[in-house]
Formats: sequence, C-alpha cells, structure tokens
Amino acid sequence: MARHDPHSHADFSQGRIQHIDLQLEVDFERHELRSTCRYRLERAAVGPFDLDTRGLKIHSVSAGGRDVAFSLGEEDSILGRRLRLEDLRGAPSFEIEFTAPPEARALQWLTPAQTAGGHYPYLFTQCQALNARTIFPCQDSPSVRFTFDASLRVPDPLVGVMSAAPTSDEASDGHRTFRFRMPQPIPSYLFALAVGEISSRDLGPRSRVYAEPQVIESAAWEFAQTEAMLDQGEKLYGPYPWERYDMLVMPPSFPYGGMENARLTFLTPTMIVGDRSLTNLLAHELAHSWTGNLVTNATWEDFWLNEGWTTYAERRILGVLEGEDSAMLRAATGRNTLIRSLNHFGWTADPTRLKFSQKGINPETVLSQVPYEKGYAFLVRLERAVGRPAFDAFTRKYIAEHRFQTITTEAFVQILRRDLPLAVRLVDLDTWLYSPGLPQDAPSFESPLIDVVSNRLFDYQEGRLPRREGVANWATAQTYLFFQFLPRRIPVDHCRVLEQVFALDRTRVPHFLSHFYEISIRSGYREVLPRAEELVATVGRSFITRPIFQAMAETEWTRLLARPLLERVRQRLHPITVAQMEEVLAKKGL
Ligand code: BES
Ligand code: ZN
Repeated sequence: MARHDPHSHADFSQGRIQHIDLQLEVDFERHELRSTCRYRLERAAVGPFDLDTRGLKIHSVSAGGRDVAFSLGEEDSILGRRLRLEDLRGAPSFEIEFTAPPEARALQWLTPAQTAGGHYPYLFTQCQALNARTIFPCQDSPSVRFTFDASLRVPDPLVGVMSAAPTSDEASDGHRTFRFRMPQPIPSYLFALAVGEISSRDLGPRSRVYAEPQVIESAAWEFAQTEAMLDQGEKLYGPYPWERYDMLVMPPSFPYGGMENARLTFLTPTMIVGDRSLTNLLAHELAHSWTGNLVTNATWEDFWLNEGWTTYAERRILGVLEGEDSAMLRAATGRNTLIRSLNHFGWTADPTRLKFSQKGINPETVLSQVPYEKGYAFLVRLERAVGRPAFDAFTRKYIAEHRFQTITTEAFVQILRRDLPLAVRLVDLDTWLYSPGLPQDAPSFESPLIDVVSNRLFDYQEGRLPRREGVANWATAQTYLFFQFLPRRIPVDHCRVLEQVFALDRTRVPHFLSHFYEISIRSGYREVLPRAEELVATVGRSFITRPIFQAMAETEWTRLLARPLLERVRQRLHPITVAQMEEVLAKKGL
C-alpha cells in the first residue's frame, strides 16, 4: 500500500473524504463520546478504503443501507490502527457507528472540581497532531480537507461549542442538542469541540470570547485587541477567510498555550494576567488563520511551514500594534529559546533540522521551539535579503495561490526559486532547511528594550543584583528575557533577592515562575518547592511546567519527589501532559 503521509494510514489513491456529517453524543457518566458519522467522498470509490483510528470501538459500517465488511489492523504505538473498509463498491458515501473510550487521547474529561465554576463537568478536545483519530475515524493527515455538519447532544444545562458556525440548538428530555455547520474545508487536526458551563461575550463584529462565567469579564478585557489584530492580519495577508474569529478560554489543565482550531481558537487561562502583556499568544493563534489553517503543512515533517510562518506573522502584527522595538524584543526572546533547544538536543541532532524524516517518530515527542524560531529566523533572513516590501508582496502571493491547500517544504523551495530569485542567490536554502544547528548568517535582533536587559545581566555577572526601582517599569517580555539569560544555578540568597525585586510571590505571569522555580530547585532554594509543586498540579501548559518538573527529576534533593508528585496529579492533568511527564521520568530512570 502506498503511504502518502508517514503519520497516517490513508492511501490517497483510494480517494479522499470531502464532507462529514457527525452526530455526537456526550456521555459524562461513562466518559464516552458516541457517534454516528456519514462520510462523503470526493469521488465514488471502488475497492478498499483505509482510515486512521486509535482506541475506537467500531460498531458498524454501512453504505447505501447495506453493511460493509471492515477490519482493524495491528495497533501501531504511534499511528494507532488502520480501519479498512473492505469494498465500497462504487458508493459515494458511507456511515460508521463508533464509540470513543474514556482514555481517548484527544479528550479530557474534567470533574466539576477541575473547572472555575466548580458545579459542572467539562469536556474538551485537542486533535493536533495525531489525535483526531482517537475521536472519529478519518484520513488523519493535514493534507486532507473536509467540510462538516455536526450535532452535539449534551446534558442540560451544559453548552457545546465547536470549530464551526453554530446554527441552532434545542432542548428535550434533559438534553440539549447544538447544531453546527462548517462551510470552509479543514484538515482533521483543526477539528474541535468543548462542552461545559460556557458563556460568551461579543468583542466586535466578527469576534466573540467564550469562557466559564467566572472568567468571561477578565477574558473580554484581556482580548480587547482581537479586532485590531484581525484588521492588521488582513492588511498584511489578505481578507480573513473564515468569517468569524472566536476564542474559548480553557480550564487550567489545557496542555498548550493556544490551539488555532478553525473559527474557534482555544487559549490557556494563564494568559489572562490583567495587563494584556501575554496577548502575543493571541496574535500567534490568530495569525494561523492565514499561515497554517489556510495554507497548511502537507505533513508534520513540514511543520515549520505552519509554525515558522506563524511566528513571523505574529511578530509582524505585533510590530504594528506595539512597535518594532517590542517585536524585536520578542524575537530576541525567541532566539534564546532556540539556543536552549539546540543545546538540549545537541547541535547536530535531527530535531534541530527544519525538515527531517519522522518515520517512526511521534511528532508530539519532538515538538520544540526549533520549527518556530529557526523557521522564523529563516524567514527573517529571506526578508532581509530582499527587503520588506518585496518580501511582503511575495508572501501575499504565496498565500493567495495556496489558500485552502497544503504545501511541502520542497514545493515552497520551488516557489522561492520562481518568485524570490534574489533571496535564493543570497541564502543557502539547503543549509537552512535540511542541516542541523543554526546557520552562520542567522539574523540578529536589536532593540533598545533588549539593551536595558543586557545591561542588568552584565551587572549581575559582575556581582551587582538588580534593584526594585530599576526593573519596576519593565515590560513583561523584558523580565522574561532577563530570567532566560540567568544561569540555572545561583546562590540561594540571590534567589531570595530576585524574588523580592521582581515581586515573584505576587506575579500572575506563569512564565516568570516557570524560570524562577526551575532555577530555585536547581539552586537548592527549598522554600519554593510547595509553590512549584502547586503550579505543576494546576497548570497543564507543559511549556510552563516541564522545566520545573524536569529540574525536580534532575536535582539530587528533589529527584525522589518527582514520581510521587506525578502520581498525586495524574488524575487532574491532561493525558498529553501526563505522557510528557512520564517521558521526563523515564529518561532519569525514575
Ligand atoms: N498549533 C500550536 C500548538 C500545537 C502544536 C499543538 C503541535 C499540538 C501539536 C499552537 O499554534 C502553538 O504554537 N501554541 C504555542 C503558542 C505560542 C508559540 C505563542 C503554545 O501552546 O505554546
Ligand atoms: Zn502555532
């Protein structure tokens, strides 16, 4: 069988799914998602048709009223099981009845205690990268796009939302059924739903925030710049193609900062800090509307095309909204996280290449800052080679020509050769795309906002600690940069001073705490441990908590406390987060 995507069982020579009608029923008692889905193909198919599944119980398959024989292949630890419909005999559509079990990787079932309100349970999905197949059979490759209609039946009085346009809802016998229509075709990884006590607030003519009632006010305030960001995105990259841009504030255990689900971005509540200083995350997910959701990486091996482009677009939008100095400060922060990643993997390791073979590798386990920040650096290198106006014109054409399509790294190179020949002469594309490490000609980022931080870091090296008055008016991104550059082990009394100077006992910015707790644990500042453990127990975003947990596992005085911590929090955290914590422990033999 021809495998077209290393992370999918789909065989595109058999045909492609074009549209899905989903009837979904959420059972909070059994923690099951029960479904009947009707699939329409681009063309009527003869012979076998292969789909991705993982952990699903398949009850029946039929086409045009007759049963279709099917078989499930061997379980692959990364891909799951191939569901083969033995012969579609020219049917243009088929229907599958199935159940997703409680442990489905894309689902997190929350108890009322894990929500802000505390009264109702909650359910949400996270499909990227390979998890859509754990909730419905599909060609789970980013290179297949489909439209859909859905009905979502939930217990009254809960509310269901989806990555689609809501069309109606009705109540009967203790349940509510919400209906949706998704007219723009999406790849499976952008499919999403959430169910809980969810209210909403309009932000502007085409954006709305959804959240639990307790957080809706503060979320609406924090996200007030959404329409301005949309306008800026349109100026740079063309008309917004998804009609609406809505956001859902997730419960704290959401495993990522943000997820660009179509028409409905999911956002971590930890970005609501009361001063809009973490809204770069919103700019990032919103920018995906063009780079990623509209022009989509063909496989997860081309992931840098999604995230590198989006990091670039995010900083261009912020450059207009906050000023170029601020955008360059963020770029410098990004460079530093990239260097950390390169050091972590080793500068010649495969995951430091923008593109490398991921056969037999789960993309989630090699997820790092490399595709984001090395991809960003590459695009800035191209931009600086030809100048911003020429690069912007190139980008607009690239997006217009590939909208609602997918793109490989190799196809992108062809486009560069055709449309940006000057850059191709000046920049060694092969080295940037396929070699490990960071090329010699990586651009540098300058800003007076960075200089201020560098001066204080220089002082620190010379033995002079920062003072409260000196840093009180720093932007969040400046303090963050300062912490990034601090050594991981410092004298314990320095920990105490920094805690005072940056008011870390009161901060709402989890990024600061992530660094501070990591440094404190490695440095033996024992007082922070209960607070550090509390953060790991409540915040699901592993970007924040993994450095802390890793420090625990790697430091003598805490290493034997890491496994008991995981066992205490296992039930509360997302399966994706738990899997990552297990990996940290496995590496240390714990
Ligand atoms: N699409 C990603 C999140 C993701 C990537 C989920 C791969 C699963 C697999 C999202 O757009 C993202 O990049 N989120 C970042 C935010 C950021 C870089 C501003 C995150 O969650 O930290
Ligand atoms: Zn992203």
